[in-house]
Amino acid sequence: MRGDIMMAYAKETKINKVLNEGKGKNNTTQPKIGFIGFGEVTFHVLDGLHQNQFKGFNIYSRPVTDRAKTDFHRERAEKLEANLLFSLQELVEGSDIIISSVRGDTSLEVAEQAAQFIKPGQIFADLNNAIPSVKKKSSAIINSKGAKFVDIALLELPVQTKHRALMYLSGDGALDLMEAMDQFNMNFEYIGAEPGKAAMIKALVNIFMKGLQGVYLEFVLGAQKAGVSLDLLEPLLVKPVLDLPREKDLGFWFIRGALLAGRKESEMKAALELMTDLDVEPLILKATIERLSRVARLKLNQYFDATIPVDEYQRIITKMYQIGNDENIAIR
Ligand SMILES: NC(=O)c1ccc[n+]([C@@H]2O[C@H](COP(=O)([O-])OP(=O)(O)OC[C@H]3O[C@@H](n4cnc5c(N)ncnc54)[C@H](OP(=O)(O)O)[C@@H]3O)[C@@H](O)[C@H]2O)c1
Repeated sequence: MRGDIMMAYAKETKINKVLNEGKGKNNTTQPKIGFIGFGEVTFHVLDGLHQNQFKGFNIYSRPVTDRAKTDFHRERAEKLEANLLFSLQELVEGSDIIISSVRGDTSLEVAEQAAQFIKPGQIFADLNNAIPSVKKKSSAIINSKGAKFVDIALLELPVQTKHRALMYLSGDGALDLMEAMDQFNMNFEYIGAEPGKAAMIKALVNIFMKGLQGVYLEFVLGAQKAGVSLDLLEPLLVKPVLDLPREKDLGFWFIRGALLAGRKESEMKAALELMTDLDVEPLILKATIERLSRVARLKLNQYFDATIPVDEYQRIITKMYQIGNDENIAIR
């Protein structure tokens, strides 16, 4: 975490006072932390913390009639030495920090429910995959009760990384939360006071990842129908970027797409026929052609050569907007 920012900020805010009450000289008293939702994320984050000797967390699991599920939750809570609660009011009133880990589509609803019980001095953090506008609404609701809000973007899988999963934090309570949870050695990165900023980053990464999954799905279908072994294809997919550090993939593929758009568009139009012959509905391919066609209209290859260094791809973006302005073409 950004220690300099945190220390500068960790002056005596009301929240810090609440969280620091009762701390001993070694500053190790745990803040009371409550999780809403007892799914994969809550379990694995708490499992990691438990393996590091932290326990006593509150977990709210909504009541269910399914006995087996309740027993399963009880067993898991016992393993974590956590307090399993079936009342949201009890969880909110008994926690300094409340972390909502439910589902993106219930994130706002859960913030509204928690807001009924939340008081000034508490922190409400939302780590759900919800879009920025939803996190902003939740923040306004929580702030209206005098409590602080944290927008958390969870960027790694706790099933793999436990409590060390990378999380980006924004919102007016982000620094307070980092200060309060410092002892847990979690992998937090502060990115600003604005709610929705972390969610925006997460949403963009998500769109990329899901887009890639769409490409893979259509690609595999095509290969299967063509009877070409995937073992043969796997190494070919990564060959062009094999010598590049992985984080340079973006620049590499952006340059290729932007500067060779016209040629690629016509190649892909021909590939449409192939996919149709293979009896694959070319859903992604059609979108690819449309995107290439829009970029091709800008004729970016008049200004740059495709051998432009990967690190310089942002020059092409600047040029795109310049052409858009000059020629009255909406870049969208
Ligand atoms: N799994 C990951 O690695 C990962 C990574 C990044 C982000 N996320 C995000 O983190 C959040 C949690 O993910 P997860 O994988 O832990 O999900 P999960 O395994 O499906 O668990 C969600 C939990 O939330 C509960 N829940 C759902 N709606 C609720 C409501 N309205 N009130 C109270 N509890 C409710 C569910 O209860 P029931 O069982 O009763 O439905 C369940 O216990 C999601 O928003 C997800 O998008 C997850």
